[in-house]
Amino acid sequence: MSSLPVIFKSIAFVVAVAFCSTICFAQQTRTVADFDKGWRFHLGDVSHAEQPAAADKSWRILNLPHDWSIEGTFSKDNPATPEGGALPGGIGWYRKTFTVPAASKGKQIYIDFDGVYQHSDVWINGQHLGFRSNGYISFRYDLTPYLNFGGSNTIAVKVNNAEQPNSRWYSGSGIYRNVWLVTTAKIAIDHWGTYVTTPQVSKEQAEIAVELKVKNAGMANANISTHVYVYDAAGKLIAGGGSIPAGNTADTLTALKTKLIVKNPRLWSVDDPYLYRVVSKVFSGNKEVDAYTANLGIRYFNFDADKGFSLNGKAMKILGVCNHHDLGSLGSAINTRALERQLQILKAMGCNGIRTSHNPPAPELLDLCDRMGFIVMDEAFDMWKLEKTKYDYHLFWDEWHKRDLQDQLLRDRNHPSVFIWSIGNEIGEQYSKTDTSGRNIARELAGIVRAMDNRPITSANNDPSRTSNIIASGALDLIGYNYHEFDYAKFHERFPGKKFIATETTSGLETRGYYEFPSDSIRVWPRTWDKPNVREGNRVSAFDNVRPPWGSTHEATWKVMKKHDYLSGMYIWTGFDYLGEPTPYSWPSRSSYFGIVDLAGFPKDVYYMYQSEWTDKPVLHLFPHWNWAPGQMVDLWAYYNNADEVELYLNGKSVGIKKKTGDDLHVMWRLPFEPGTLKAVSRKNGKVVLIKEIKTAGATAKIELTADRKTITADGKDLSFITVKVLDKDGTLVPNADNRIKFTVTGGSLAAVDNGDPVSHDSFRADNMKAFHGLALAVIRGRETPGRVTVTATTAGLKPVVVELNAK
Ligand code: GAL
Repeated sequence: MSSLPVIFKSIAFVVAVAFCSTICFAQQTRTVADFDKGWRFHLGDVSHAEQPAAADKSWRILNLPHDWSIEGTFSKDNPATPEGGALPGGIGWYRKTFTVPAASKGKQIYIDFDGVYQHSDVWINGQHLGFRSNGYISFRYDLTPYLNFGGSNTIAVKVNNAEQPNSRWYSGSGIYRNVWLVTTAKIAIDHWGTYVTTPQVSKEQAEIAVELKVKNAGMANANISTHVYVYDAAGKLIAGGGSIPAGNTADTLTALKTKLIVKNPRLWSVDDPYLYRVVSKVFSGNKEVDAYTANLGIRYFNFDADKGFSLNGKAMKILGVCNHHDLGSLGSAINTRALERQLQILKAMGCNGIRTSHNPPAPELLDLCDRMGFIVMDEAFDMWKLEKTKYDYHLFWDEWHKRDLQDQLLRDRNHPSVFIWSIGNEIGEQYSKTDTSGRNIARELAGIVRAMDNRPITSANNDPSRTSNIIASGALDLIGYNYHEFDYAKFHERFPGKKFIATETTSGLETRGYYEFPSDSIRVWPRTWDKPNVREGNRVSAFDNVRPPWGSTHEATWKVMKKHDYLSGMYIWTGFDYLGEPTPYSWPSRSSYFGIVDLAGFPKDVYYMYQSEWTDKPVLHLFPHWNWAPGQMVDLWAYYNNADEVELYLNGKSVGIKKKTGDDLHVMWRLPFEPGTLKAVSRKNGKVVLIKEIKTAGATAKIELTADRKTITADGKDLSFITVKVLDKDGTLVPNADNRIKFTVTGGSLAAVDNGDPVSHDSFRADNMKAFHGLALAVIRGRETPGRVTVTATTAGLKPVVVELNAK
């Protein structure tokens, strides 16, 4: 591999632009085809299913991404255990037969898998292409040598998720991310062969460094040259340059570097995630043979030991959340709209960061974070050599960790949203005082990362002490704390001159819509792990006052975090509830209680605490509901901002004005229940800011459907999320309504149903779901043909309700 020094040739730029306007856009040099459609699937092992002639006619036809676990039945006896979501695993086979045009002969054809959980073997026309163990890594195979050009080809994939438990959360099973068929010329930019960075950024100008890896698959005297162009978001060409590589011989990989200058750059930030595009073109002689587009966000940032984090010179805190990869009722099958919806809900809360706990994410998540303005901590591993569950990646560590980490870096380092690399979460090697081999592993991993990128490295330590092997290794740029918020204030005493990040915090516990009184004492659950931990209904009060022994309430951690500048930011466990890890309970619970937002995407009350602290928009959130037994003492909380005080009225009579004092994050009233209307009024300087009313709900009288988007794209993938509310005759939510709602869809299909209840064992794939605390969710998928999609919801004794969508 050779690399050239930096060259910027203005003449080449002028020539290239002139050249480009006539030729470049007329040629299709590279195609990246969605390869998700029309696979056949069989659950269970089949011998010789890799052979092209194998009988697959009886197999189910489906489109990827696909997660077979989510289609199964919850049982505590499934080998994943409730910790892993209590859904089935097993072995599955996928096959797809496709033709490759004769005209493609002379091209290179690759298949790209964004992620297969897990242990995948892939064959093309009976030829084994490879095995990947890691269920979260993206990988490519070169199909070219084995294809029948002008004829039929069969790709077969065996997925083995039989040996469980292999995860501490729900993994899903299958080809659960997108698959692409990539066709290029013989000379083309290699897989993940573009690396764009911004080594120097100021208000006046930004230096854009572009590294390209060009692969020449067998052309002698290729006379290769490359040109790089930067376009702004409006598509205007603003910079360009070129470099000519030395190596033009066949079967080589050539590394090229160039630098470009963008004048007066518009900087990428969480509030203005402005993206440029970098188009890299490869020429053989005069002929354009490849073009590849990468997003570019121009920004600079710093972690300072004393001042904390700053972006583009402005001090700010990373206000992030950790999320697992599942999409609730859709399972792990990736869907861009479902991810975007999660990010929109989080953005509206004021969240500006995502930690991809504890594995490389779907590439679409990073694209969305680039576009929507999130600061990503991109995490590699949940374990190294020491196991967390019997069949997890520790078994594959020695053989695969280097390759997997490098592949993650190669794939993800182009994303402007990625700010931090995490080399591991709560790694077992951190603890031992006698076996300190974890220090060497930490150094080795950090070395792999540093050889490829200069963004800061951390690891999520639940032993954030000086003796932790990972911290003692000296390999980390940022000392990552999981929990221990009571120790944050002493950070510099323990680590003088070091930089801090709260890699994971809080783990507050809540069930949406469920409340217990009194609310002003902290409960620590579970108390023990040695016996089943089950309580009536397995619910957790949604006042922010329940935490596991290692965690804190949301308020407790945020109060410390906001106090000290050097605390550069936090990633809360978790933004959304996820399948598996049903702490603090055991079965029959099957999903988490940690989310600020429940599994269905409905915010819990504490969402508004963050919104009141993290955004400027006026917030007044009063809870719980107002349906209790006569005379019962009820605590009422309000989160508010932009106001000096809140006054509460019950049936028109004031029950008192409350003001947050000191570091308070909410106010509370305690009063005996009497039916009627509660009204909270927030005021600033005596002027009303917001009014919030809660009424005692009467009998269930109707349901209401609200689509998050009424117009969706007719691509067979886009989704509309429909919230069902169970209401009384005046439109007040009936807080404990659990009506079973049935959905019929014409013109599209019902992708999933949910209600956010961690204890429900109803299938996400059924055509009905019970409301949970008055709410249910239907996820609707449009067809590929444009047209009207009609969703009808019915429930016993009430009038059916219809919502019309438009698939365009
Ligand atoms: C952390 C761990 C997470 C999750 C969380 C639950 O210690 O990193 O994966 O298990 O606890 O509170």
